[in-house]
Amino acid sequence: MRQSRFLPKKNFFSLLLLLLLAASCRSPEAEEKAPQAPGAVKVAEADQAMIVSPHPLGTRAGLEILRQGGNGVDATIAVQFALAVVYPRAGNIAGGGFMLIRTPEGKVEALDYREMAPGAASHDMYLDEKGEVIPGLSQNTLLAVGVPGTVQGLYAAWKKYGQIEDFGQLLQPAIRLAEEGFPISQTEADRLNRFDSVFTARNPYPMPFVKQGGWKANDILRQPELAQTLRLIAKQGPDAFYRGPIAEKLARFMQKRGGLISREDLAAYESVWRKPVKKDFREYTLYSMPPPSSGGIALAQMVEMTEPYPMEKHPWLSTYNTHLCIEAMRRAFADRAFYLGDSDFYPVPEKQLLDDSYLRQRMSDFDPQRAGSSDKVQQGEFQLQMESFETTHTSVVGPHGYAVSITTTLNSNYGCKIQVPGLGFFLNNEMDDFSAKPGVPNQFGLVGAEANAIEPHKRMLSSMSPTIVEKDGELFLVLGSPGGPAIITSVFEVVMQVTRFGESLEKAISTPRYHHQWLPQQVWYEEGTPPALIDSLEALGHKMVPKKYIGLVKAVQVLPSGKLKGAGDPRQPDDHAEGM
Ligand code: DON
Repeated sequence: MRQSRFLPKKNFFSLLLLLLLAASCRSPEAEEKAPQAPGAVKVAEADQAMIVSPHPLGTRAGLEILRQGGNGVDATIAVQFALAVVYPRAGNIAGGGFMLIRTPEGKVEALDYREMAPGAASHDMYLDEKGEVIPGLSQNTLLAVGVPGTVQGLYAAWKKYGQIEDFGQLLQPAIRLAEEGFPISQTEADRLNRFDSVFTARNPYPMPFVKQGGWKANDILRQPELAQTLRLIAKQGPDAFYRGPIAEKLARFMQKRGGLISREDLAAYESVWRKPVKKDFREYTLYSMPPPSSGGIALAQMVEMTEPYPMEKHPWLSTYNTHLCIEAMRRAFADRAFYLGDSDFYPVPEKQLLDDSYLRQRMSDFDPQRAGSSDKVQQGEFQLQMESFETTHTSVVGPHGYAVSITTTLNSNYGCKIQVPGLGFFLNNEMDDFSAKPGVPNQFGLVGAEANAIEPHKRMLSSMSPTIVEKDGELFLVLGSPGGPAIITSVFEVVMQVTRFGESLEKAISTPRYHHQWLPQQVWYEEGTPPALIDSLEALGHKMVPKKYIGLVKAVQVLPSGKLKGAGDPRQPDDHAEGM
């Protein structure tokens, strides 16, 4: 095998080792859509504040900070650090994410703390000498790791909007949970056991996630090394992670084991405040994440493409509506594949993609009687003006008028499943979200083009869609979901049901979901979808493929009474809504 040109020679053997590991560890990722018996939607109501996160201890870390006088942003940050401890498959300090903040004055801002490609990354870094993608390299090895953004992003949010004076205070619940340990849930035990052999193979040193004899519910998980890392961050702020002792260890580990992230990469990392995508429809205004997420643009496109159709005349899960939405999804995802990437590197034609007449035109070949074809539906055409599998979501409405919608990820479960010895946290494998080669699908089956090609310091395209909806200018809904590309469609379906169909939040979240992403030419549907609907969609020509679940939506709704309703997803037993 040819030595990759971006790797120093001394790392050749490390790469060989990485390749062997990448190939030998059959990733149980495919099994991660394991059946979850859907329970009842966990709904909570409260007067002042509401937090919905994927773990009760995450939610309670936020409530603890609210009781100490923090606002919704402080609480969100405390939840995120706590999730890095109690929800390690997606909660993180070495991943990235997006945050939408709505201030008490109604201003909505987007914070991008997505990972970036290391400076030594290159366009063809995952290809062999024949130009083929080397399986596993962008997912299971240190070459999969993007420069983490989480600590810098959470700090930036606190600096701009936090009310608690000491940043370190926001980490105290997380430090306590890591130090003292906490009883793990059945879901976590199952997940850890499933990845046991992968953790062992990729981490040839002691780590707290491997337990002789396996894990069971209520076993105590202690993470003293992570507690130490969090203590450093509490004391020194992001400098500890990006310039200080953590940066040093991480960069040294990368160098020794064939990764690319250097001290310079860490020191140069910056989160970015961006203008959210804004879409008015009826009495609502939807705000969601702009590039480098595709979520906001795709959501707004689907809302507009379905807008002229009399959907309300039919039940939500009717053939008419489902077929219409699938066709809107097909077109939005075709545009995603071609046009979307990091707008700091590629001229994403955001204005054109969101233009109402473009979107109406896009649906002009929609046939209510027949499935479209992704071979025929390519990206839309317009004049370009060149000048110019794990994630988690938390929805928060705080007592001082701040609302926060935040989605964060390591990409796959536990990221690349590698920890730096002594630091206690998992590294992401976000580099897989780049398009390794045009037309070759990533782990979510998504294809991309030059817009999302790898470049040094570029951010990889995401589907994460933290979203806030206003009704008549007032805060109405805060929501988001994990699920890779199905994040966008899950959020779309819940928004549509609650707005255009006036459905209750809990009903909208528990209704079976479906997903289409242009390629592959399949429609995924959840268990519980009426068989007659599946049959009728098949009769229209859609290829229907069952999935155990699609998306895990967490949302807060402001009720007409002014009360706050929080709802977790019945598909995820650990989701927890609680208010005060
Ligand atoms: O940013 C993205 O779109 C992906 N890295 C998200 C991964 C994901 O949602 C996996 N899980 N459910």
